[in-house]
Amino acid sequence: MTSTARHDTWSAGEHYERYMGRWSRQIATRYLDWLDAPRDAAWLDLGCGTGALTQTILARAAPRSIVAIDQSAGFVAHARAAISDRHVRMRFEVADAQKIPLDDASVDVAASALVINFVPDRVQALREMKRVVKPGGLISFYVWDYAGGGMGFMTAFWKAAIALDPKAEELGEGRRFPFCTADGLKALAAEAGWPAVTLAPIQIEARFSSFEDYWQPFTLGAGPAPGYCVSLPEDKRAALKARLKQEVGGDGPVSFVARAWALKAHA
Ligand SMILES: C[S@@+](CC[C@H](N)C(=O)[O-])C[C@H]1O[C@@H](n2cnc3c(N)ncnc32)[C@H](O)[C@@H]1O
Repeated sequence: MTSTARHDTWSAGEHYERYMGRWSRQIATRYLDWLDAPRDAAWLDLGCGTGALTQTILARAAPRSIVAIDQSAGFVAHARAAISDRHVRMRFEVADAQKIPLDDASVDVAASALVINFVPDRVQALREMKRVVKPGGLISFYVWDYAGGGMGFMTAFWKAAIALDPKAEELGEGRRFPFCTADGLKALAAEAGWPAVTLAPIQIEARFSSFEDYWQPFTLGAGPAPGYCVSLPEDKRAALKARLKQEVGGDGPVSFVARAWALKAHA
């Protein structure tokens, strides 16, 4: 693990749901509308986490089967307990995106939601996605537009954190994932041997009912910013909370853009 990844905590499903799952479910819906995958397909959900995309595939894409894998045993257990469909063959497995436990050309659609930037060798993960898709099948992923400031609620958090602790600068996703731009992601796909990709921005509004609703998930430790937040001693965490409240304008409701870049190609 690199030092900037030291707060990337992926384990407690409930906490992830509070911090990110509620938004990743919404973006998954928009994404599937854009992806326009065939019905009755065999799917791979790479880096399924607590199952935001898996569940949305079930609800909207009429799949024949889904293999959902993630490196986090806690998230896989959460997804397995939460998701079932007696009409669809489902398999949840703890595995590394860099070594997908599937045969060559064994799925119709390989999709990955908000994961690829976290994988140490992302080109290898994209090669693996291409390997497991049948000829003519769909390979696709999306990641937050960190580099373009498209993840407003994280940008505000890191701005407040850096104002109090300049060392936090290297931990912000915008700094860590500079390739999360249209050109950077296309270059990544090309490096992994993907054929010509279609790329699109996909956006939702992340609306919090109050400052507390916004702040509380940072205190649960699931994800890079929450991981950093819980690593702080109590007094520093209180100072960060006060600074962030000032940054977003007080106690009232607060709303941010949450924008992802989505890519797809036919293998
Ligand atoms: C931001 S979460 C996205 C989860 C889910 N796809 C969603 O949309 O909510 C990132 C996920 O990537 C997983 N992950 C990170 N590196 C991984 C790797 N090398 N192999 C498999 N999963 C990985 C984490 O465990 C975590 O569940």
